[in-house]
Amino acid sequence: MYLDNSATTKINDEVLKEMMPYLKEDFGNPSTLYSLGRESKKALEESRQRIATSINAKKDEIIFTSGGSESDNLAIKGIAFKLRKKGNHIITSEIEHPAVKETLFFLESLDFKVTYLPVYENGIIKIEDLKQAITPDTILISIMHANNEIGTLQPIEEIGKIAHENGIIFHTDAVQSFGKVKIDVEKQNIDLLSVSSHKINGPKGVGALYIKKGIRLVPLIHGGGQERGIRSGTENVAGIVGFGKATEMAYLKLDEHAEKLSQIRDEIIEKVLGRIPESYLNGDAHERLPNVVNFRFKAIEGESLILLLDSKGYQTSTGSACSSKTLEASPVLTALGLDPVDVHGSLRISLAPENDDFDIDDFVDSIAQSVERLRKMSPLWNKDIDYDAVVGRK
Ligand SMILES: Cc1ncc(COP(=O)(O)O)c(C=O)c1O
Repeated sequence: MYLDNSATTKINDEVLKEMMPYLKEDFGNPSTLYSLGRESKKALEESRQRIATSINAKKDEIIFTSGGSESDNLAIKGIAFKLRKKGNHIITSEIEHPAVKETLFFLESLDFKVTYLPVYENGIIKIEDLKQAITPDTILISIMHANNEIGTLQPIEEIGKIAHENGIIFHTDAVQSFGKVKIDVEKQNIDLLSVSSHKINGPKGVGALYIKKGIRLVPLIHGGGQERGIRSGTENVAGIVGFGKATEMAYLKLDEHAEKLSQIRDEIIEKVLGRIPESYLNGDAHERLPNVVNFRFKAIEGESLILLLDSKGYQTSTGSACSSKTLEASPVLTALGLDPVDVHGSLRISLAPENDDFDIDDFVDSIAQSVERLRKMSPLWNKDIDYDAVVGRK
């Protein structure tokens, strides 16, 4: 049972079917004039329209990229380099994905100034902090829509409103929320929005950046001038076609999927918290994606739990793919103000529409048994100790 859909998803059969002709007989370069090329160009533009429609944008406001990371880089560096003379200050949050965070670290090395807003225990920024962080030099606010580890949603509509009241551009990384919750770039005051195909049952290596009409940015990739000169390089036509189809499918059934997945999510939360002592939910209980839940269990290591659950047939994660490799404490969980020991005992479960029918009781049994087994081996676990009292929670 694959329950790590925030990391990536399985390609949908209908998506693959729609892509296949563009890998074989309709292989033309969309920049060419003869019919084969025109066919590719037509498919490209249909996909652009599908993505634009899903977020209430116009077709020519969508630029195709190689994925969420490139979209984040293009949005942030593109605006920073374009508006360098106007100001050098950028505001973000402490829990951004590395595609945003590392881009900002790079800009700091070029003398840009970055403010990292705290997110507090529920994983959400405070609007007051944002207002106070704005300076006359602020050119960009980049705050993610949904967090990739804990699934919490930021108040992007309000953030965008404040950005615009102050003449600042607002970018949001919507890689995790796109296709899971409704997005309306007009209503939510969004200027730049990054999305990625492989999180919504589309192919890997393709994404898009929404750029509101009138906003100018410096390209990262120079060359043949494709994508209105903003992103040169022969387009990944098959990938883009797959992305368009996956987007359309996700949005057609968005309400149905959200309702079903949030029911499963809530049942897992209720059963885990009810059954496993010293287990906690990470992030806000309500402002979260329908398909993501993140727990922490006292006195265990998340990585060991992942391996035990894998041996029982469940593929889950501790959080971000990056922190699973390095064994570093997750910066997202650390930003919630958690005890450093607790940060290591996390488990992220992320669902996709195809997970609509599995044995939740067996899954929760597997978690409970694994946690118990690991605690028996853990020097940190002693059932005679009241851990909440020790860490001052009581
Ligand atoms: C919030 C967020 N932003 C950006 C990315 C990067 O997207 P991609 O893998 O398409 O480069 C991810 C992927 O995990 C993500 O979760």
